[in-house]
Amino acid sequence: MKILTVVGTRPNITKVALLYKAMAKEFDCILVHTGQHYDKNMSKDFFQELDLPMPNANLGVGSGTHAGQTARTMLNLEYFIETQKPNLVLVTGDTNASLSGALTAAKMGIPVCHVEAGVRCGDVSQPEEINRKVIDHISTLNLAPTLTAAEYLKREQCPYSLTGDIMLDNFLFYSRKDFHRLTPTYKGFIYVTVHRAENTNGAERLAHIFAALDVLTKEWNIVLPLHPRTNKMLKQYGIKTKVEVIEPVGYLQSLSLTRNAFMVITDSGGLQKEAYWSGTPCVTLSPYTAWRETVDAGGNTLVEEITTDNILRAVKKADKNFNPAFSMFGNGEAVGKTLNALKAWSRANCG
Ligand code: UD1
Repeated sequence: MKILTVVGTRPNITKVALLYKAMAKEFDCILVHTGQHYDKNMSKDFFQELDLPMPNANLGVGSGTHAGQTARTMLNLEYFIETQKPNLVLVTGDTNASLSGALTAAKMGIPVCHVEAGVRCGDVSQPEEINRKVIDHISTLNLAPTLTAAEYLKREQCPYSLTGDIMLDNFLFYSRKDFHRLTPTYKGFIYVTVHRAENTNGAERLAHIFAALDVLTKEWNIVLPLHPRTNKMLKQYGIKTKVEVIEPVGYLQSLSLTRNAFMVITDSGGLQKEAYWSGTPCVTLSPYTAWRETVDAGGNTLVEEITTDNILRAVKKADKNFNPAFSMFGNGEAVGKTLNALKAWSRANCG
């Protein structure tokens, strides 16, 4: 079986790390990068540190509006799929790269495998939620990371299997690395990331977030690797901050920061889970989460309305003594189960 895997952003690359290497031993595999993320520290560095082969092609679509980015990816990918003739196109998660990959393949009559399918946060205005829903409904093989995701897929009548979360497999595998080497000087710190459209596309919300961080700097070191989108919007809105921001960090450094932090404050879905698995309390800068399990287990506190006071209250309120559990996310066996699902599909469909 020939599988064409589409990635385009940091989270797509880190998600497929172990899975792609395992698939490459069993199947004929091609890796395509859409070019959605293109800065070295948002893309190339991740391939190197995760020991992933560089993509067979980079479609070079770059940044733009959602329609522009999706349309350019689809046009370029259509040509590539035509020449490569894969049996299956595999996408992960909820980015525009994943949507474009799934949509192009489905329109060409090529079956799609969606890894991390069925995830919902309940806010249909978020670009990621739109992408998740569309991808699930056009995919042949939806692989659910949690029981909650499997239940959504069942309710929405999408075909699915429950495999567990490949992010947990990556987390457990790469956590064995020597972290002390990676977090040299930070002690007693809060690890912060902010980049989602809901928080950065309006001056008021972003100003509230940075005002809260400024207050926290009185008591804590804040380690904030700044996403280029947030950097751009801070400048555009003229928002000044006392936080000494740093350049975007790699996957291993991010895991290390997460495990060693007093607390994580974020709007990233993946980081909410990694904080939970690390036993580090997380404050999520949103009233919504795609990972409700982490909230129910006491490891994640949502901010109902983004104001400076509410963020500071959530930081105070966050439970500092919860016990993380891996079982809800498949105990680190998701890569094996995903591989089994792909083998079964191949036997049934590729002779
Ligand atoms: C995307 C995903 C989001 C994911 C995030 C991880 C979608 C809809 N969103 O958001 O779910 O959590 O990636 O980082 O796919 N930029 C650069 N250099 C780069 C990449 C981006 O400067 O290498 C800047 C550009 O100004 C661009 C902006 O960041 O317009 C936003 O990038 P984009 O890829 O559209 O969305 P992300 O915010 O990264």
